[in-house]
Amino acid sequence: MSAVRKVGATPQAIQAHYDAGDAFFALFLDPTRTYSCALFNGDDDLDAAQRAKIDWHLDQSGVAADKRLLDIGCGWGALIERAVWARDAAHATGLTLSAAQAAHVASMGHARLEVRLEDWADHAPSAPYDAITSVGAFEHFAAAGLSRDVRVDAYRRFFTKCAAMLAPGGRLSIQTIAYPAAFDRAAYDATDYGAFVRERIFPESDLPTLPEILEAADSVFEPVIIRNDRRHYARTARIWRRRLRERRDEAVALVGQRRVDDLDRYFRTSAGAFDIGTLQLLRVAFQKRRA
Ligand SMILES: C[S@@+](CC[C@H](N)C(=O)[O-])C[C@H]1O[C@@H](n2cnc3c(N)ncnc32)[C@H](O)[C@@H]1O
Repeated sequence: MSAVRKVGATPQAIQAHYDAGDAFFALFLDPTRTYSCALFNGDDDLDAAQRAKIDWHLDQSGVAADKRLLDIGCGWGALIERAVWARDAAHATGLTLSAAQAAHVASMGHARLEVRLEDWADHAPSAPYDAITSVGAFEHFAAAGLSRDVRVDAYRRFFTKCAAMLAPGGRLSIQTIAYPAAFDRAAYDATDYGAFVRERIFPESDLPTLPEILEAADSVFEPVIIRNDRRHYARTARIWRRRLRERRDEAVALVGQRRVDDLDRYFRTSAGAFDIGTLQLLRVAFQKRRA
């Protein structure tokens, strides 16, 4: 086990959430099962907004024909699939800690797509990547209850590893939920809701702040674009919640009432937190610094 994995969510913790069954997630996610905040333009529906989000990250990381892409935390593979189909990327590798997700991506059977059931800390690429994306995985890179220094150190190791895997001039595009810089983490952690999220929704995970991300990246990456699209996550979470409620009976049959109620509560409460800004949704594009 690598040093980094000890401070982030373990495969067991990841699988407790993501291996609930593909059929369950298909009830409320879009058809590509993209499980992260969408990017809405006007009246876009969820499918269009998820495509727009993926395209934003492909653009910011510079994915084009002949480029090699690494997607850290690839979920069910929507981003790497689009990189190959819509951008003609030479090769796209996805990493996930979820066996169900890895099996799904492997079943796509595209010669230029590769999925690995592997922690980013353990990934040893056969050649440098031109582009790296990581969408909705950063939330799992540091466990709850760590000091700021330990958390930033874990993030620094992530950025250092990404820089080492990128060719000169390579770009990295990340997306993560974050707390505002002045957020009182200790007070929140002591609440019932903090314990609920930590124990029942995303075990062994915690959120960064923007200053922590920038500090951790600074020696190897410079930020090029920073967006806080928190209202887009409020909208995404409300769509997921409405769909889950519409398919409640099927959902309960698949995963049980408690799990469905937990997710309903999480979507409802986090949508409100994104509304008022106690949660942020950061999309940050980085350029690798010259050595
Ligand atoms: C919320 S899902 C997002 C999936 C996808 N990017 C999307 O937008 O739909 C988080 C993903 O991060 C992966 N993940 C979490 N920690 C990881 C790690 N240390 N190494 C590789 N993947 C990780 C999970 O397995 C999962 O695929």
